[in-house]
Amino acid sequence: MQTLTITRPDDWHLHLRDGEALTTTVPDAARCFNRGIIMPNLVPPVVKAEQAAEYRERILAQLPAGSEWQPLMVIYLTDNTSADDIADIASSDFIKAVKYYPAGATTNSDSGVTDLAKTYTALEAMEKAGIPLLLHGEVTDADIDIFDREAVFIDRHLVGLRQRFPGLKMVLEHITTRQGAEFVAQGDVNLAATITPQHLLYNRNHMLVGGIRPHYYCLPILKRDVHQQALIRAATSDSGKFFLGTDSAPHTKNNKENACGCAGCYSNHAAIELYAEAFEQAGALDKLEGFASHYGPDFYGLPRNQSTITLARDPWQVADTAPLGNDTLVPLAAGQTLQWKLQS
Ligand code: DOR
Ligand code: ZN
Repeated sequence: MQTLTITRPDDWHLHLRDGEALTTTVPDAARCFNRGIIMPNLVPPVVKAEQAAEYRERILAQLPAGSEWQPLMVIYLTDNTSADDIADIASSDFIKAVKYYPAGATTNSDSGVTDLAKTYTALEAMEKAGIPLLLHGEVTDADIDIFDREAVFIDRHLVGLRQRFPGLKMVLEHITTRQGAEFVAQGDVNLAATITPQHLLYNRNHMLVGGIRPHYYCLPILKRDVHQQALIRAATSDSGKFFLGTDSAPHTKNNKENACGCAGCYSNHAAIELYAEAFEQAGALDKLEGFASHYGPDFYGLPRNQSTITLARDPWQVADTAPLGNDTLVPLAAGQTLQWKLQS
């Protein structure tokens, strides 16, 4: 096969940041996607509908002329999110979800939830209003090994949350483990998961063997290869429960190549090409369209996109660096050759 035409995909999880960064992150997000679910972990976080409206305007101001890409906004769940806050979200046209970060789990998560029980009033209101809860599914307990944080979150918290709020739509974001993939596959229609390109293409050996490679460091952290294989099976399974969410998360080169480097991989320079690479390696290019373009909108209750994109088999080398606003980042797969290229 030399070309592949699919329904235009959407990105159901990405970070654009704010200010100058938007001048490069927004055009990158819009290059192949039609919609993006925009993470709210700014400083300070996006906790009110009004803040989301203002952030959306700053994003739209950077949209390339002629682009139809739409930012779908997300509110950051805190211990103090009220039923009134949820009512504001429910009456908004462009806020599509609420994001749970455990306090201290990752980049800019200091305002995150300290105890899930404190959010039950908000979750109940979301369940009634049909607003999805997006979960950063990791525990932060000091006694839990970083490689076990996702599996322990499922046992300690997610099982109980599903029982307490069976009508609440939940997306277990950026799953990284066999346990995550199996739990979602066995769940009901209100449970789904996103999967990033890095967790399909790489495992922890890529990050740690032969030297420590900070540009593979993200959270949840890359796991061992058996987990990578489980994620590939889930992404290519056609079950409708797994869909595209890049978790593209820009940090400057300096902040990554650092004695205490930041977590996050930037993938929106080549998102669909990276997924095509992973699906082709799995012999499942025919499953890319469902994962990238159908199952996400189906879960969110939004229409599938009408337009298409075309990829061509045309090997090309990813640049070593790319701009992040006025600064520089190192994109995912920097210097590597990818087989598929988006046709403009
Ligand atoms: O690696 C990550 N980076 N994981 C997250 O959950 C947050 C993200 C970021 O905002 O940089
Ligand atoms: Zn994220």
